Amino acid sequence: MQRVFSGIQPTGIPTLGNYLGAIRNWVTLQDGHECVFCLVDLHAITVWQDPEALRTQTRQQAAVLLASGIDPVRHVLFNQSAVSAHARLAWIFNCVARLGWLNRMTQFKDKAGKDRENHSAGLYVYPNLMAADIMAYKATRVPVGDDQRQHIELANDIAKKFNHDYGVEFFPEIEAFVPPEAARVMSLRDGTKKMSKSDPSEQSRIEMTDEADAIALKIRRAKTDPEPLPSETDGLEGRPEARNLVGLYAALADLTPQQVLDRHGGEGFGPFKQALTDVLVDRVEPIAKETSRLLADPGHLENVLRGGAQRASTIASPIVDEAERLVGFLR
Ligand code: TYM
Repeated sequence: MQRVFSGIQPTGIPTLGNYLGAIRNWVTLQDGHECVFCLVDLHAITVWQDPEALRTQTRQQAAVLLASGIDPVRHVLFNQSAVSAHARLAWIFNCVARLGWLNRMTQFKDKAGKDRENHSAGLYVYPNLMAADIMAYKATRVPVGDDQRQHIELANDIAKKFNHDYGVEFFPEIEAFVPPEAARVMSLRDGTKKMSKSDPSEQSRIEMTDEADAIALKIRRAKTDPEPLPSETDGLEGRPEARNLVGLYAALADLTPQQVLDRHGGEGFGPFKQALTDVLVDRVEPIAKETSRLLADPGHLENVLRGGAQRASTIASPIVDEAERLVGFLR
């Protein structure tokens, strides 16, 4: 059975982007795969996190994942810092990856902007830790949104270089698993920017803890243009907000964008937004309600993560022990 690994940063409440781009696939891949899902708190601190907020957000994310249908009994759910194998392998990968490779990472450039000198060294080597996350389990399938593709390619380059340098076939090739629709959900306020849990504007995103009223309001306020919806997908060219809303509807209703336009082409945004709100509420509200039920018992959430960490460690420790032996570390 193939092993799946994926992660999410506990830096806020998961958004509809996280859900449609990744979490929904995590849930479906649970049938027929052995899955390891991780709240990547080591990645989170590559930018400043208030300690109490980090703890709260880690519990919140665990709750959203469970409410979305992650099964912590058949599969493994834990937080990254509780399994030391990640940091151990990341150090080795820091010494395998080349600076030139990291210099090409667009996410670092986007996050650091012009003020490169003032960002943490951790943010720069972030992709090496991500490669270690996956390779510590010798996972082969990685369900992610479109923005993580470049990191997955880098993980393959690192694994290949490790295998080559040490003359072994130790780490496998990995494959990104990106959904056909909504692989890149955009902000509701600006169709050219990614929907993000850390965007300062709450109106820019649907959070997976939003209830019907909040969803309706955010969709009503979502930026659009004055034209009605086109009847062909070509007509979405140059209309990023319209494209995004049609893409969201398609992903939520399991349709293609063309099928959405077959139904709604020629409509103004008023009725279309109402239809979109209906499908969104159907999908998000049950998750929001279950999340708030689970959050009432933080002790249970922490137990789930602790149990997950023990099982994760049982898989990853022997793999990282062997990587260290290959490198030449005495034990
Ligand atoms: P993070 O926390 O930014 O996002 C978690 C997952 O959600 C996807 N995603 C989106 N998909 C579609 N539209 C969006 N607007 C959107 N925003 C986020 C992301 O692609 C991701 O799949 N580096 C990762 C976490 C990570 C990881 C890993 C992932 C650490 N180690 C190992 C896979 C394997 C990140 O920051 O995700």
